[in-house]
Amino acid sequence: MDTQVSQIQTEALAAIAAADTEAALEEVRVKFSGKKSPLNALAAGMKDLSPEEKPVAGQLLNTARQAISGALDERRQSLQDAADAASVADLDATMPARALPSGALHPLTVVKDRAIQILRRLGFALAEGPEIETEFHCFDALNTPADHPARNDSDTFYFDSGKLLRTHTSSVQVRTMEKQTPPVKIIAPGSAYRRDEIDATHLSVFNQLEGLYVDKDVRLSDLKGTLEYFYRAMFGDKTEVRFRPHFFPFTEPSFEIDVKLQVKGEAPKWIEVAGCGMVDPAVFSAVNESRGDEAFDPAQLTGYAFGMGLDRLAMIQYGIKDIRLLIENDTRFLSQFA
Ligand code: PHE
Repeated sequence: MDTQVSQIQTEALAAIAAADTEAALEEVRVKFSGKKSPLNALAAGMKDLSPEEKPVAGQLLNTARQAISGALDERRQSLQDAADAASVADLDATMPARALPSGALHPLTVVKDRAIQILRRLGFALAEGPEIETEFHCFDALNTPADHPARNDSDTFYFDSGKLLRTHTSSVQVRTMEKQTPPVKIIAPGSAYRRDEIDATHLSVFNQLEGLYVDKDVRLSDLKGTLEYFYRAMFGDKTEVRFRPHFFPFTEPSFEIDVKLQVKGEAPKWIEVAGCGMVDPAVFSAVNESRGDEAFDPAQLTGYAFGMGLDRLAMIQYGIKDIRLLIENDTRFLSQFA
């Protein structure tokens, strides 16, 4: 039996060494370690051995089994390693990696964030209101008569319900005063919508930043100082700011603000950047009526408000010639700001 076992073992180890694929090795395993293996056949014959011979034979068989299974494991591992190595043999590890596109903030976001940063330093808190508004918040409370052109179907997006897409962020003035008591000092950046003909300088959606300051003794000089400070912080210390008399239903007096700016590659010129004025007492009265109290007493309080276009600021800052680029999400455009 001794010789039989060692013969089988030698044969098995030779077959294992010769197996050059995992499939071939599996066949060898079935043959020498499976149920019908020659070692199992020998083990079956052990019942005819004497009690003294049995343990010796059992020991022999076990040693041979372990040697064979150890050799099988080892060979399987080395075949797998070889396959792994072959699969990456053509790989050039010195090749540069594919570039990861780096994300960047949208130019509008950059400008909006900067504007907020500057105004927060002056004590303005952030406020917001819905983009789908009532006529009351967008027009009536803002002292805008029913026949005002801004209220036309041709200028404003109306829903069947009578609600509308807000045409300016000034509705947030009303929303804020309905909820808070004076003093109120807020800014509200957000989208506004108008039925404009779309071209290089007009979209039907644009971005504004509204400001409102209501307290005892707020003056026109405060408004002027604040906005001059703002535009100089935004565009540089020497920036010239001009207040041009204008009309808005919800401020009296009202102004448009021009800033003398140099768009990249052009001569400096006056560019209209905002509307503003002193809150019309009629707005306080409308707010009081809506609140059902006299929290915004027009005899005690004054205030100023302003609304600036953010799209235009971004276009000036970055020399963007077509406003449509701001909403197209074209990565060839956006990646220039990365
Ligand atoms: N809402 C005005 C506009 O969209 C701007 C404005 C805001 C004017 C606040 C005065 C006060 O044109």
